[in-house]
Amino acid sequence: MISDSPIPSVVPAGRMARMRQPVLGLSGGLELRPWRRSDANVLVAAGQDPAIRRWTLLHVDSPEDARERIDRMHERWQTELSAMWAIARTEGGEAAGLIGWSGIDLKGGGAEIVYWVLPAVRGGGVAVEATKRVSRWALDDLGLHRLRLCHSVANPASCRVAVKAGYSLEGTMRSALLHADGWHHQHLHALVQGDIGI
Ligand SMILES: CC(C)(COP(=O)(O)OP(=O)(O)OC[C@H]1O[C@@H](n2cnc3c(N)ncnc32)[C@H](O)[C@@H]1OP(=O)(O)O)[C@@H](O)C(=O)NCCC(=O)NCCS
Repeated sequence: MISDSPIPSVVPAGRMARMRQPVLGLSGGLELRPWRRSDANVLVAAGQDPAIRRWTLLHVDSPEDARERIDRMHERWQTELSAMWAIARTEGGEAAGLIGWSGIDLKGGGAEIVYWVLPAVRGGGVAVEATKRVSRWALDDLGLHRLRLCHSVANPASCRVAVKAGYSLEGTMRSALLHADGWHHQHLHALVQGDIGI
């Protein structure tokens, strides 16, 4: 017999829009905070970094384009589609990276993480710590069920971040993303509500 009771949304619509985007503390004088229009030059710099361009396909035309992107980040929080934080210094407030959730699906309880950090702050564990922090927020505070982390199989640094942040490798998605040099296979990692390790 087919039940007529619909499966409820994993997270009720409106929960995220009603939340104020929190500031999340990190170690080492860093924090995660909402992007500001005054961070536009950091987005422009990120768009010129070869590794960020290569692996995130970020392309920023100008400071005005960057400001529009920052405005859209805030709109997408309100429309519950994505949630982006700046990885920033607590003192002085300078942004040095981005981390957050794209493709938020409150009804289905999922989202995909995106991140980059500028070269000056790479190699010190920032990406791993920030990944764990936003993952705890997504599972515990927002109430999502399953978080995805996808990266090109040719990007070992991102694979290391995934594993160190507790995301299990679930498989390889063939020809999953078109890069400048052609189609790349991607690793699919995931963290599910109840997993240990974060
Ligand atoms: C991926 C990225 C965010 C990592 O940032 P980070 O702050 O250096 O990361 P962490 O310091 O937290 O950890 C990086 C880990 O990757 C390892 N790593 C770095 N480069 C590596 C490489 N080429 N091969 C293998 N491992 C590598 C580091 O040794 C470290 O692991 P360890 O602590 O066990 O030594 C950063 O390199 C970046 O912004 N890259 C460009 C954008 C990008 O690739 N985004 C992800 C798209 S899916």
